Amino acid sequence: MSKTEDLEFPFCDDANKYEKLAKIGQGTFGEVFKARDRKTKQIVAMKKVLMENEKEGFPITALREIKILQLLKNDNVVNLVEICRTRATPYNRFKSTFYLIFEFCEHDLAGLLSNANVKFSLGEIKKVMQQLINGLYFIHSNKILHRDMKAANILITKSGVLKLADFGLARAFSISSKGAGRYTNRVVTLWYRPPELLLGDRNYGPPIDMWGAGCIMAEMWTRTPIMQGKTEQHQLQLISQLCGSITVEVWPGVEKLEFFGTMELAQGQKRKVKDRLKAYIKDQYALDMLDKLLTLDPSKRIDSDNSLNHDFFWTDPMPCDLSNMLSKHTTSMFEYLAPPRRRGPIAPNPNQRPVQNPDQHFERVF
Ligand SMILES: Nc1ncnc2c1ncn2[C@@H]1O[C@H](COP(=O)(O)OP(=O)(O)OP(=O)(O)O)[C@@H](O)[C@H]1O
Ligand SMILES: [Mg+2]
Repeated sequence: MSKTEDLEFPFCDDANKYEKLAKIGQGTFGEVFKARDRKTKQIVAMKKVLMENEKEGFPITALREIKILQLLKNDNVVNLVEICRTRATPYNRFKSTFYLIFEFCEHDLAGLLSNANVKFSLGEIKKVMQQLINGLYFIHSNKILHRDMKAANILITKSGVLKLADFGLARAFSISSKGAGRYTNRVVTLWYRPPELLLGDRNYGPPIDMWGAGCIMAEMWTRTPIMQGKTEQHQLQLISQLCGSITVEVWPGVEKLEFFGTMELAQGQKRKVKDRLKAYIKDQYALDMLDKLLTLDPSKRIDSDNSLNHDFFWTDPMPCDLSNMLSKHTTSMFEYLAPPRRRGPIAPNPNQRPVQNPDQHFERVF
């Protein structure tokens, strides 16, 4: 008989107190379910802790996620309610399954953006971005990097509160001029990965999340990820085509990065962030903030504090509550439940009309 059966876990409730209602996510690290507390009727999200590769003990990646989530209590960060486990019985060979229990959020941003019936006004886009950057301001102030910014990891409740989610790749960082950090480079989904990571930086910091915020901001208008690279090399090429060539002139010190010599870097590319996005974004302040988020040199990229003070958030139309718009949509929208957003090169003609499916889901826009 396995020892775990005898363990009591006094602060770890039985997962059976929740009744699973539907599967809402399938991540690299496990499944996510919508569930209801049988007693209190509270609706939650249950994220299964994947134990498959564990011979014994609790996976260190899940422990890190839990530790970070317990530290980060903020309106714009997903709230971890508790950890639960199933009982060890002969039927599961005395192996418990552990779940992270979160407050339920009705939508994720990828799901909302892939549904053409969901229309954001400029004021509503400002509210989304303000909450997103406020969440980043909070985690960065607490010395945590998210490291996996993308629309599917941004949750929005039906009352319009945005929550950063998925801290499965997050870690603590320390700022030091000497570069104490030797962090792993293999983070951030390719399409949202900043140039410093693609060039092998291992001493990165909060600017990596700000780049992701820029990609997501553009997506609020284009409705599809703006740089859909197929390989790391291709991603760098797409970045240069939009943000200009990566050179020591625009980014002093870039030559010291590990892959600067080995990655092919397009020469003579002009910066076209504002030019290419103005077909979608009419607001000058929005274009200006986006330009500052998608800055190649991470040391010059706008940080969360300065971004919150940007005129974008302080000019008419002011950020406007999302609850009204969301009240028109009574079914949950998640990336997992939406048809796949197709990959492909950026449409050569940015004025091209969106291609729509009969079911009103965008295929490609930008
Ligand atoms: N609290 C929540 N409320 C509602 N939906 C949630 C919640 N947490 C997660 N989800 C849904 O489940 C999906 C996967 O969750 P999460 O990103 O935390 O898992 P993951 O396994 O790390 O995923 P991936 O590796 O694909 O990023 C999210 O994109 C979201 O759609
Ligand atoms: Mg995720």
